[in-house]
Amino acid sequence: MTILVTGGAGYIGSHTVIQLLESGNDVIVLDNLCNANPEVFNRIEKICNRRPAFIEGDVRNAVLLDTIFSNNQIDSVIHFAGLKAVGESVANPVLYYQNNVAGSITLFEVMQQHGCKKVVFSSSATVYGDPASIPVTESSPYAPANPYGTSKMMVENILTDLHISDNNWQVALLRYFNPVGAHPSGLIGEDPKGIPNNLMPFVTQVASGQLEKLSIFGGDYPTQDGTGVRDYIHVQDLARGHLKALEALAENHGCAAYNLGTGVGYSVLDVVNTFMQENQLDIAYQIVERRAGDVAEYYADPSFSSDRLGWKAEHSLKDMVRDHWNWQKNNPEGY
Ligand code: NAD
Ligand code: WQD
Repeated sequence: MTILVTGGAGYIGSHTVIQLLESGNDVIVLDNLCNANPEVFNRIEKICNRRPAFIEGDVRNAVLLDTIFSNNQIDSVIHFAGLKAVGESVANPVLYYQNNVAGSITLFEVMQQHGCKKVVFSSSATVYGDPASIPVTESSPYAPANPYGTSKMMVENILTDLHISDNNWQVALLRYFNPVGAHPSGLIGEDPKGIPNNLMPFVTQVASGQLEKLSIFGGDYPTQDGTGVRDYIHVQDLARGHLKALEALAENHGCAAYNLGTGVGYSVLDVVNTFMQENQLDIAYQIVERRAGDVAEYYADPSFSSDRLGWKAEHSLKDMVRDHWNWQKNNPEGY
């Protein structure tokens, strides 16, 4: 089976490509490399003795997409390609709607023209905003709090409408919680450009001495220790969720949204303390003001994904901090 993976050179995409190749699929990656390094393909080859076909290009390029679909028998698409920095989306919303929404529309148009109607979409728990109750189920209302989150909601709406218009469209909307960790080989992992925004890459860069100190945003939340609580999920579990979603599409399950989280919330201090214990390292930190726009606490109710996809996260927080550090330690400058 041939699967087109947009954004397959990126963090979550590359881990998924490995599992697709290991399961015997043929994979074509389309990525414009705006947030990725082609070295990732050498690493993928080291891990699975195969590499995916790679086309450097943009999902907004309809002519290129048409050529790809004309030249290949593509069964389904996993659509990772997108921009994901919340702050940047607030500063430059048009860029986010152009890349994430217009790019998706172009892709779906070309898929429709070629009769390819199976798609797994990278959505985000960010579509829930500050949820009214936790754990968060898939029926919680949409309440995105920034243009990035709105762009994910819009693409979810477009795909839902496509399925209503033509129920041959098989759609899985995967709402990721907080992806962390890396492939256990330490050969591929998250490679953020500049100073990381997210907690785990910041922690690993403090551990490697590239950054001096972690600022913990807020110590006065109504949580177990006052710091923010999230549902961190190992990228390997997340990648496996995509293979399970493809199986569901093959069985004509229709169009549905799935939470991909563990169902367990950990605080920032839980993450930092587990990182220090597991890796036998010290992390300098200080507790500072809350970060604007942050939510105190949320974690998934993953029971629908378990029932409908037969998918459950298997990795512990210890696995996440160990594997993320193993990647950072072996690749202090990234790829
Ligand atoms: P990433 O930046 O590592 O991967 C995205 C990839 O898409 C990159 O390789 C980038 O070069 C490529 N890309 C971006 N725009 C493109 C375009 N117009 N045409 C072709 N390629 C393009 O990010 P990631 O963490 O792997 O995230 C993958 C997807 O999952 C994104 O859609 C993101 O919004 C979503 N997501 C990520 C997280 C997270 O915290 N990492 C959480 C929820 C959802
Ligand atoms: C986690 C916790 C911070 C950095 C973001 C996006 C979301 C999704 C995942 C794509 C929070 C605290 C962080 C630091 C800290 N991405 N923190 N010091 O904010 O839950 O989610 O990434 O869809 O859309 O918003 O993740 O890793 O930034 O923060 O104390 O230097 O760590 O306050 O409690 P977040 P994060």
